[in-house]
Amino acid sequence: MLLPILITLFSQFQGLNGQAVNDVDANGITLLEKIEEMERQILNPFTLVSVVTPCGVNFNDNQNRGQQTSAEWVRIIFHDSITANIAGPGLGGLDASIGFESDRPENVGIFVNVTLGQFSQFSSVFLSMSDLIGVGLSDSLASCDPTARRIPLRVGRIDATGPGPAGVPGPTDNIEFATAAFAKAGFSQSEMIQAVACGHSLGGVHHTNFPDIVEDPKDASNTDGRAPFDSTPAIFDNTGVNEYLTGTGLKGGPLVVGPEATRSDLRIFASDDNATISAMSSPQSFEDTCFTIFEKMINTVPSAVKLSDPIVPRPWILRESHLDLNSAGAVTFSGTIIGHSSASLPDTASYSYGTSGGNTAPKTSQAGVAYPIVANTPIGFGTITDYNFADTLNNPDVTSINVQSSYSAPINQKIFILVSQGFHNQIRDSNNAITVNQQYVVRAAILISLAPAGTVLSAKLWHTAAQAGSIVPKILSTTVSMTLKTTLGSYAIYQAVVTVGDGVSALPGGTMTFQVTSGATLASAKVDPGNWPACTNDVLTSC
Ligand code: HEM
Ligand SMILES: *[C@@H]1O[C@H](CO)[C@@H](O)[C@H](O)[C@H]1NC(C)=O
Ligand SMILES: *[C@@H]1O[C@H](CO)[C@@H](O)[C@H](O)[C@H]1NC(C)=O
Repeated sequence: MLLPILITLFSQFQGLNGQAVNDVDANGITLLEKIEEMERQILNPFTLVSVVTPCGVNFNDNQNRGQQTSAEWVRIIFHDSITANIAGPGLGGLDASIGFESDRPENVGIFVNVTLGQFSQFSSVFLSMSDLIGVGLSDSLASCDPTARRIPLRVGRIDATGPGPAGVPGPTDNIEFATAAFAKAGFSQSEMIQAVACGHSLGGVHHTNFPDIVEDPKDASNTDGRAPFDSTPAIFDNTGVNEYLTGTGLKGGPLVVGPEATRSDLRIFASDDNATISAMSSPQSFEDTCFTIFEKMINTVPSAVKLSDPIVPRPWILRESHLDLNSAGAVTFSGTIIGHSSASLPDTASYSYGTSGGNTAPKTSQAGVAYPIVANTPIGFGTITDYNFADTLNNPDVTSINVQSSYSAPINQKIFILVSQGFHNQIRDSNNAITVNQQYVVRAAILISLAPAGTVLSAKLWHTAAQAGSIVPKILSTTVSMTLKTTLGSYAIYQAVVTVGDGVSALPGGTMTFQVTSGATLASAKVDPGNWPACTNDVLTSC
């Protein structure tokens, strides 16, 4: 019975309601590639989610500032998306324009640059900063919600290249201003009430940011002077709603009981005679309401953006895979399968290779290694296990790999990057000190039969680059011609040396991606050179 279910899931996934998963963005990346990258991101417990686990932690620096990383990641959703103009030109929304807006008074606090700096380490050509902001919300809620519930994520957001309009409502703004701001972004009055009640379940108001609202507690364990919104600032729950409604505990917090002029939460919650917030008083209604409204906030995007359907990580995918040539010139294929399940997973994974004559006999992966789930990281996908495999293909007709009869990925033996022959170089300044690693040697194999004399291959490297005014890196690409170096078996080996950046300042964090092409039709799989070793003696060409 399992197989038909999986196939149904798979075809729903592939269908994506008729969406063109093969449509490419400005960088030539398909929606399907982005979906797969997102699956890999959220099926890795050591990425973003570990930064907000447990919910109360301040990842940025010491624990005595009264800062809470998960709350910062939730607050940034509001400040980035609320300045959308839905009725107008359909601009704004969740587009990471907040990166250019950190110096505006309406965005006071450390949360913009700290948060985006944390997310920047995961930048790549596949996941935009605005998609990562969505991951941050989903991970924070999974960590802070007692049921570890996750917001379903879509991908395909496009980052803004400059600041958007101002207009984030603040604590001294009146109800008309706040209502109008939310309406402009496509949120009704009751949705505004819901969004504020949901957001203000976590974290609080800091004296350092709002000295007129919160007094300095002069507390060495709370040096930024945070006054929490409710009695459980590190649990995403209905406590704040009920403390407001019943006048108990913190009574709704500083924006309800603080100085008159800054009682924005009270003005908002009471604006429909408390009807909307009263309907959120049970744990279940609070959760359901909040997950719906947060999902609407992260999916408020410029009208030109086409989002994928919500991503449900497939039970089996490849974390990484690559072709290579061994010293005898035989083609090898190796990589890692990820399995995840809330039930148990097999000791090994089963896979086969697809050829024009059908699938090869099933093969068995190496023994699976379960991810150690550190400190109860709320990954939300059951057990996650990696299964390595490594084969010599010995069959030029292999064009795909099929994993557990539920997942398939193409294999292109015509042209591929030689991962075992990739290196980076350590650039030295005039004092012979190592500055930055921004030079790569990339080698690729192409079938001799497809590379007549005079064939030139191109190597393209997508990388992050700093952009003025925002801590968020942009994605650039560099393309270099490759030259024939040698032949091995039935393959011609080409090489290029690719230099990026200015050779002085380090590139911003993030992942690089290589692809090699010949003409318009032959393109290798994309490869992350992040683990390529350094050349010995800094002599790149002799690597
Ligand atoms: C008119 C609407 C809103 C106003 C006036 C407002 C105002 C504020 C203020 C003054 C703070 C204190 C920031 C600090 O001192 O660090 C704050 C914190 C916060 N807000 Fe709002 N907010 C509004 C709506 C929202 C919404 C819709 C969300 C939902 C995402 C949200 C999420 C948060 C979170 C999570 C914090 C805690 C941040 C932390 O502890 O670092 N807010 N808000
Ligand atoms: C709404 O609830 C607050 C807090 O419990 C209360 O102070 C206020 O009077 C209520 N407003 C209305 C119109 O019911
Ligand atoms: C955030 O970083 C950007 C880019 O480096 C910088 O221009 C901006 O002033 C910073 N903002 C704050 C509040 O530190």
